[in-house]
Amino acid sequence: MRSDIDIGLTGANASALVDLEELLATRLLVQGNSGSGKSHLLRRLLEQSAGLVQQVVIDPEGDFVTLADRYGHVVVDAAQSESELASIATRVRQHRVSVVLDLEGLEVDGQLRGAATFLNALFEADRDFWYPVLVVVDEAQLFAPAAAADASDDARRLSLAAMTNLMCRGRKRGLAGVIATQRLAKLAKNVAAEASNFLMGRTFLDIDMARAADLLGMERRQAEMFRDLQRGSFVGLGPAISRRPLPVRIGPVLTADRGGAPKLLPLPDSSEDGAAHDLIFAPGELPMPAERPRRVRAENTDDVFERIERAAPPAYVAAPAPELSDEEREAAIDDIVLQMIADPAAIFQPAGTLHRDFQVRCRIRRLGPSIPDATAFRRRITVARARMTHPESEQEELWTRAIGISERVPEDMQGVFLLLARAAVAEKVCPSDDEIARFFGSHSPGRARRLLNHMEQIGTIVCRTDFQGCRIIAFPELEIETAAVHPKLADANATQAVEAL
Ligand SMILES: Nc1ncnc2c1ncn2[C@@H]1O[C@H](COP(=O)(O)OP(=O)(O)OP(=O)(O)O)[C@@H](O)[C@H]1O
Ligand SMILES: [Mg+2]
Repeated sequence: MRSDIDIGLTGANASALVDLEELLATRLLVQGNSGSGKSHLLRRLLEQSAGLVQQVVIDPEGDFVTLADRYGHVVVDAAQSESELASIATRVRQHRVSVVLDLEGLEVDGQLRGAATFLNALFEADRDFWYPVLVVVDEAQLFAPAAAADASDDARRLSLAAMTNLMCRGRKRGLAGVIATQRLAKLAKNVAAEASNFLMGRTFLDIDMARAADLLGMERRQAEMFRDLQRGSFVGLGPAISRRPLPVRIGPVLTADRGGAPKLLPLPDSSEDGAAHDLIFAPGELPMPAERPRRVRAENTDDVFERIERAAPPAYVAAPAPELSDEEREAAIDDIVLQMIADPAAIFQPAGTLHRDFQVRCRIRRLGPSIPDATAFRRRITVARARMTHPESEQEELWTRAIGISERVPEDMQGVFLLLARAAVAEKVCPSDDEIARFFGSHSPGRARRLLNHMEQIGTIVCRTDFQGCRIIAFPELEIETAAVHPKLADANATQAVEAL
């Protein structure tokens, strides 16, 4: 069964495809400033996958109700009691009907409570009804804010817990979160961190760019490219999209959004004396607001139940994966981990990048969605690395300890930490600034020095200069240090040290 959906064009004008089956297992985070085209992107994704997978849209602005006309989504007006909302959500799971939860018109507290009640009931569904569902949440920072927001503490806690459940524990229950936010820095970190696929749109603020770079395992300098993206252009990354950052222009949509970008219009002629004054202050009837696109609104709960029961469920997307016993699956995962650590460059990659590569390799082996999450994967890597060493050798024991310590080092420094530790364990000279810079993809020795300073400040290493001006890097916890060398020397010694790793 087809499981790729087409969301637009890549930089090379090829179709930009998203593997829907993979997306169900690995979730998606969309980020971009207001007007960058996130809601348009979600609409494209929903339109292209309608009929392939059940969809639930948590819609704070009533933007997505127009999906009802063309694709038969049932619109659920969130202005109902919590018990009614919960029983609607339960039936939505039983009958596998696509719905839009329309939260427009509720005040903030009501929106958070409505979304939380609905999501919780989806989550609590009976095991018999754990079918796959795309759960799309637009403006996710409202429902999972990083800090106290306008809403009451109670409502915020409720909806944050529901979003955390959706993103962290929803997969097994068939719930696949697709969330969009204007500001990464305003979205709760644990919610953002659970997505393995990203589509990053135009982003201006440094703090959002830094969060994006961290999530994508990119250098911050590279993330600068998000500033120059046009409306409707995104950079995609993740097991369901692409292994390398992929520029994507989102394609057109078939249903209308309700807002649209404001366009300049000629101002009405009010040159006549006093005309403008009269327009505003003259007593009389208020003008009628312009008609909005038709909303298929259910009158009452019974009505919604009826619609849900009438609607046909979408086709199931998952193609059957080969049956594997637990031992076969474990052996396949071990094999992948061993292949990964055999690549000498792997040790210098941030954990997030390694885990994404692992997910892609599992996909190639068709291991299905039950694969180790980021934490379990890290543990496996450590254990596999330790197994490869020989404890009787003093050097290997030190190296195993260094790997253990590196797991406590901030992720973006782990690679360099291990690079330096390897030199110290092997009693080689410290790599030069140029070598260090090259390891994290930079040509700037200044950045290498700043990184070393930072590592020293947090206590992972101590840099010492001997009386000849040569640098030595000490590792207090390991009680070892590198041999001395002048830091500016990109000479044969340093290169040799790196090659020996
Ligand atoms: N790929 C695209 N092709 C054509 N039009 C687009 C595209 N992306 C966005 N637009 C248009 O740009 C406008 C803004 O897009 P959209 O509403 O999706 O932005 P947004 O990121 O959701 O903004 P906000 O955060 O304020 O909700 C809309 O009128 C939309 O139709
Ligand atoms: Mg939007």
